[in-house]
Amino acid sequence: MSERLEGRQLSLWIATAGTTAYPSLAEDLEVDVAVVGGGIAGLTAALALKRAGHNVAVLEAARVGTGVTGHTTGKITSLHRLAYTELADRHGTKAAGSYGQANQAAIEHIARLVTEERIDCDFRRVSNYTYAESDDAVATVREEAALAARLGLPSVFTSDVPLPFAVSGAVRFSDQAQFHAVRYLQGLARAIDGNASHVFENSPVTSVRDGTPAVVETGRGTVRAAEVIVAANFPIGDPGIFAERCYFHRSYLIASQANAAPLAGTFISVDEPMRSILAIDVDGSSYVLTGGEGHLASQTGDAADRYRRLAAFARDRLGAGQTSFRWSTQDTMPLDGLPYAGKLSATSAHLHVITGLRKWGLTNGTAGALILTDTICGKFNPWAAAFDTTRTAPESHAAGKQAQPEQRKQPEQPEQSVRSDESALAGLRPGDGTVVEIGAHKTAVYADAAGDLHAVSAICTHLGCTVEFNAEDTTWDCPCHGSRFAADGAVIQGPATMNLEPKPTPDGRTDP
Ligand SMILES: Cc1cc2nc3c(=O)[nH]c(=O)nc-3n(C[C@H](O)[C@H](O)[C@H](O)COP(=O)(O)OP(=O)(O)OC[C@H]3O[C@@H](n4cnc5c(N)ncnc54)[C@H](O)[C@@H]3O)c2cc1C
Ligand code: FES
Repeated sequence: MSERLEGRQLSLWIATAGTTAYPSLAEDLEVDVAVVGGGIAGLTAALALKRAGHNVAVLEAARVGTGVTGHTTGKITSLHRLAYTELADRHGTKAAGSYGQANQAAIEHIARLVTEERIDCDFRRVSNYTYAESDDAVATVREEAALAARLGLPSVFTSDVPLPFAVSGAVRFSDQAQFHAVRYLQGLARAIDGNASHVFENSPVTSVRDGTPAVVETGRGTVRAAEVIVAANFPIGDPGIFAERCYFHRSYLIASQANAAPLAGTFISVDEPMRSILAIDVDGSSYVLTGGEGHLASQTGDAADRYRRLAAFARDRLGAGQTSFRWSTQDTMPLDGLPYAGKLSATSAHLHVITGLRKWGLTNGTAGALILTDTICGKFNPWAAAFDTTRTAPESHAAGKQAQPEQRKQPEQPEQSVRSDESALAGLRPGDGTVVEIGAHKTAVYADAAGDLHAVSAICTHLGCTVEFNAEDTTWDCPCHGSRFAADGAVIQGPATMNLEPKPTPDGRTDP
């Protein structure tokens, strides 16, 4: 049996934020704007619209800040590794510049809200670095620094990088920031709720319908609204077919005890394996966060080994101590590199969406929220075109570069072993799960801590791929478009909106 991993399997942000207790939607309601999703995109949009004079209702499936935002690294920056070289190449410098300016504006928006709404979230101004160790990588970093400076961003190339190991050089963006992501979201929620605006938790939305008014359905109540924003990380139901335009990428983070003075900056490597670094003090304890080990959601692998590699890096390169927390999450990645904020589908009149935040959603999600706020308020937004959901990428820049071949494979069901032999269940250890054929059905069977078996259908309720067991998170994950389900089949992350169907266990029992 493999060595136990250090630390709690829980995000540092969720572990230290305390919990919220907003009610579930229990009756029908009418508001100006309904927002689906209590992550950074949804809450930022809801608060901006409330401040613009609208009454709003946020509908969150679980608790505020427990989605992707609750599992983030916490960097608030417009420096996204080598994004400007990539975006200028694919879309031209105008779109790359819009992307950069939208993200810069998002940093300042967050800073303003922290002050004006008095949000206690460890917000701190820092420089952010994309660093190179190899000689090959240093050339790309120089190119990125020069291009970003030409686009008007606060960018320089520097050899002076405040890391405890030698690097060849870096792009540095000054006056960026970091924060405690969940405390920030809880602050936004506090500012939204009240004066005819609402935050509802444990209120999963099952469908949205366009019209005058538009209609948002939950199991227990209906919200009618002039406008609806779907900010569920990936759109529920997906009428705009974003599954064809996005793929899903998972990454891992550990928070280790920091043994040295806090790092003066946030960092990401250009060289592989990619490493992302941030230091933070939370409630008197100093942590250093190390992220990386990313992979397509459709690829499986040993998560325990990934955490061990991150812990080795934190120990050997950053002098960090024991791992206190470890977690992973996945984000929605646009195949053409630009995020989406606009109409939910080409024919939508009152339905809007924010998605494809490309693992930089603290700023991209904030920017998307501000774009939709302007759209709903009838104002011009200079960056809306770059985030437009109905765009087609310009051929001259995009030819042949729309997606890497391995990303294109994403929506297909990968090869997977389904055990046809029910005797495989005999060897199922507590905390483990497997997919077996029981009769004509692919069944996902989980053994709880006491060894009791629980069974649900292994067929994803989005488009019918077969789910796989994720032993680290105790979830059933769909490799096709990223839906995730709890061990009991409840949806955690869409595009699926319906739970996995309960099935009889091999002993004939069905969970309630
Ligand atoms: C490992 C990792 C590290 C990252 N680090 C950074 C970073 O340092 N800086 C940065 O800028 N970005 C970072 N990102 C990206 C960033 O965290 C995300 O892009 C961003 O948090 C996504 O926000 P969101 O509002 O779209 O999604 P979420 O935070 O997931 O919010 C969506 C909410 O919608 C809810 N929901 C879903 N379905 C329904 C439904 N049917 N009804 C009602 N509610 C529903 C969910 O419960 C969830 O709370 C990182 C991403 C990863 C994977
Ligand atoms: S998420 Fe699309 S089939 Fe499962």
